[in-house]
Amino acid sequence: MTNKYIFLLLGGLLSAICAFQKGIPPVGETGGLDAKVDSLLALMTLDEKIGQMTLFTSDWDVTGPTLREGYKDDIRAGKTGAIFNAHTAAYNHELQRIAVEETRLGIPLLFGYDVIHGYKTIFPVSLGEAASWDMEAIEKSARVAAEEATAAGLHWTFAPMVDIARDPRWGRISEGAGEDVFYGKKVAAARVKGFQGGDLSAANTLLACAKHYAAYGAVQAGRDYHTVDISERVLRETYLPPFKAAVDAGVGSFMTSFNELNGVPATGNKHLLTDILRNEWHFKGFVVTDYTSINEMVPHGIAADEKAAGELALKAGVDMDMQGAVFYNFLKKSIAEGKVSVEQVDVAVRRILKIKYELGLFDDPYRYGDPELEKKVILSAAHLEAARDVARKSFVLLKNQDRTLPLSKGLKTVAVIGPLADSKKDLLGSWHAAGNAEDCVTLLAGLREKLGAASTVLFAEGCKTLGRSKDGFAEAVNAAKRADAVILAVGETRGLSGEAASRSMIGLPGVQLDLVKELVAICRQADKPLAVVLMNGRPLAIPWLAENAPAILETWFAGTQGGHAIADVLFGDYNPSGKLPATFPRNVGQVPIYYCMKNTGRPMDPKNKYTSKYLDVPNSPQFPFGFGLSYTSFDYSPVLVDKTVFGRNDKLKVSVRVTNSGSYDGEEVVQLYVRDLVGSVTRPVRELKGFEKIFLKKGETREVEFTLRAEDLAFYTRDMSFKAEAGDFEIFVGGNSDAENSAKVELR
Ligand code: BGC
Repeated sequence: MTNKYIFLLLGGLLSAICAFQKGIPPVGETGGLDAKVDSLLALMTLDEKIGQMTLFTSDWDVTGPTLREGYKDDIRAGKTGAIFNAHTAAYNHELQRIAVEETRLGIPLLFGYDVIHGYKTIFPVSLGEAASWDMEAIEKSARVAAEEATAAGLHWTFAPMVDIARDPRWGRISEGAGEDVFYGKKVAAARVKGFQGGDLSAANTLLACAKHYAAYGAVQAGRDYHTVDISERVLRETYLPPFKAAVDAGVGSFMTSFNELNGVPATGNKHLLTDILRNEWHFKGFVVTDYTSINEMVPHGIAADEKAAGELALKAGVDMDMQGAVFYNFLKKSIAEGKVSVEQVDVAVRRILKIKYELGLFDDPYRYGDPELEKKVILSAAHLEAARDVARKSFVLLKNQDRTLPLSKGLKTVAVIGPLADSKKDLLGSWHAAGNAEDCVTLLAGLREKLGAASTVLFAEGCKTLGRSKDGFAEAVNAAKRADAVILAVGETRGLSGEAASRSMIGLPGVQLDLVKELVAICRQADKPLAVVLMNGRPLAIPWLAENAPAILETWFAGTQGGHAIADVLFGDYNPSGKLPATFPRNVGQVPIYYCMKNTGRPMDPKNKYTSKYLDVPNSPQFPFGFGLSYTSFDYSPVLVDKTVFGRNDKLKVSVRVTNSGSYDGEEVVQLYVRDLVGSVTRPVRELKGFEKIFLKKGETREVEFTLRAEDLAFYTRDMSFKAEAGDFEIFVGGNSDAENSAKVELR
């Protein structure tokens, strides 16, 4: 037996003995989970209960003001039941030891962290992953993250973020699955499955947390933390479904959002946290606030002080206070004053303890976190390969004039230019958990490895991502002139997207566009291939590039293996297949712009001034939702339906034949959209209702069939009942949300 196993066995035994002495019902004892939780609850003092409702950060990473110092003393005193931003097996083991051995009841701690797109092996930012339209890949990424994070002593991730986001000014659009409801539901479920696996108690699965509940993506003007004022219909139709999908996938926790919703901050919003989440959806896990969001109800202007804010939060349905120390400081007093009851506290504590039992922490508080496994799995060859694969799948080829890409591996000299070409840290994107910049493969490094000694790879930074200096332009121009092809990596720094990273202008920052313009002119004159590689965390407004750059590859922030993955695509070892999960506007004045808008009473007519449009820009986006090119081409047959009239219990079969008509094998995301032509309330011009990613060899044809039922066409009707209405529908099938290939059907 290795030392590790002796250590684990002794640890387990010791904790079982401690637990037994302290009266904690061990797992396996007769009686259901609820009975165990209740008997533990009966042993707890009010202070200990409030401790379980308290989550504090360690001093490792913070995303806001650290209100507490001395969190180890809090653990020892049983005043905090959960810790976040503490990781590594050894460190968490020590904290857990304090909780288990030095507190009166020995209730194990719960360790949380923002493991969003990887723990140490970093995958593309979530929006990028979503561009893969590959649920297996997305689930796999979450699975790898869970394997690494649990080995490092973590139990709980603050992911997935399932906020629908239709405003690219909002930096947090990078953390979710983009603009679409149907698609967002699928991705939410895949991520929950990936993190939690089939069994929460397994030592390699991570408790997931659906966040930020709710409607955070609808902040006005895309400004982070701002106000949200939307109708109940929009809330239910657009913003809630991915949360419901997370509940259906078994997610164990929810996080409230910072924003107010129609006058009531989400953290004090009973309608959201109790009426909908508990009473309608029957969610059984626990609800944590976002970072100090109880305290923030004071500046929101809905509570006079923090004590009142805590009462509002508890009464609304919050179970755990992240970092705000409001329950910790005031809840006892609120109970003494009769503002809230011990019964309300018990409800919250029960939910939290139940999850701790389900994670197996009472069975063995040290089951997560294993120094040997940590060494073995973190950044393992298999995980790096998975990260490279998912990264390749996430890239979206936005333009490829005259087949600029793929580039030939026979090129003698390649110039790699741009501030992001050799930046390791930017590849990590926002929320990179324990990811290290040193572990990242840059585009320059990836290309050097791909091309080997046979080609010369020149590098010039050209300019900084954000600065105004053009001092580096001359060197870049010189490199471009000497090369046979130019690869230009431009975009955002990683800090320009993510939390607290809203932008009012969403073009290329700094002088990057000027650099691109000079290099495009040189390459055009010399008839040299030039490919722009974008790295960014949001849809950008890039009208000049769209018009003038010969090729554009959107690579988001691609993670640890980013450089290898991009090199694979640029040189044709992987044929790009990603599709945009969010619309790219032509300019920021078009925002909000998303494919499933309403038609209006005066739909755009270029010949009629008095129709819904702009004077200075078309209504259409630069690149629509679902758009992405391939090195090959796909032809679609007309859409076939197996009946033109279908009833409530029928299955409608919709099919197309897709042919790979180009000269590369490749993948296509076949997308199905529906328009409900007349409703008791107006309906979007189209809505995604199905998609399938298929691989076709060159020349190959395949039939793709979708099944639609009446319930797939349901929506919140005039009286807010959720159902499909009889009438005519138009069904579109194609490679993006602009597909014109359609058929008409009638639901009776
Ligand atoms: C963010 C959350 C995150 C939390 C903990 C907050 O500022 O809004 O998404 O999970 O910090 O780090």
